[in-house]
Amino acid sequence: MKNIVILISGRGSNFEAILRASREQRWEQNPGARIAAVISNRPGARGLETARREGIPAVAVDHKLYPTREAFEERLAQEVDRFEPDLIVLAGFMRILTERFVAPREGKILNIHPALLPLFKGLDTHQRAIDAGVRVHGSTVHFVSAALDGGAIIGQAVVPVLPSDTAETLAARGLELEHVLYPRVCRAVLEGRVRLEDGRAVMDDDTARELAIFA
Ligand code: GRF
Repeated sequence: MKNIVILISGRGSNFEAILRASREQRWEQNPGARIAAVISNRPGARGLETARREGIPAVAVDHKLYPTREAFEERLAQEVDRFEPDLIVLAGFMRILTERFVAPREGKILNIHPALLPLFKGLDTHQRAIDAGVRVHGSTVHFVSAALDGGAIIGQAVVPVLPSDTAETLAARGLELEHVLYPRVCRAVLEGRVRLEDGRAVMDDDTARELAIFA
């Protein structure tokens, strides 16, 4: 059985979408995977409550209790490794991970970023997209590298930017597609249909089509 460890900081709606897909599609049977734990750097994260309610181990590693980023990360790594993860899924996890955490786990960590990378790395992506006047926006799932939002792109979901949009309405439109995209990407990686090779996400044409989603 492959273990998925999900890292969150808050709401956890992407975690819920992955959980739902894993149950509906019976991932335990095929590809033989389960969500082994949900870990949050914020003890009050709603996603932790969801995990507990669903009978999934829920762990808080509160970054505020550690004097340095390194100390926090070391503790986080211990908790993550306890569940022997084959896949580490960052889903609204709002702490930057350094080389120390990422390098030994390269090719096993995914992140979802609410923009069409390589545009709009960092925070406030929806407002920045509106301000830039782009007509499409969306979300990207990528392998995590030590460069912030800079790892190899796996899949993207595209939504229109409407003249009436606020950052909130645009975020909501994007989030709906994230909930389709992220479970698909997780499954494709677990099935070995997507791999990290020489800094690029390698997959066949059918998989690339499946992981390009348009509203
Ligand atoms: C998503 O928009 C994701 O792209 C960003 O943070 C948000 C997480 O939402 N990284 P949730 O916690 O999964 O509901």
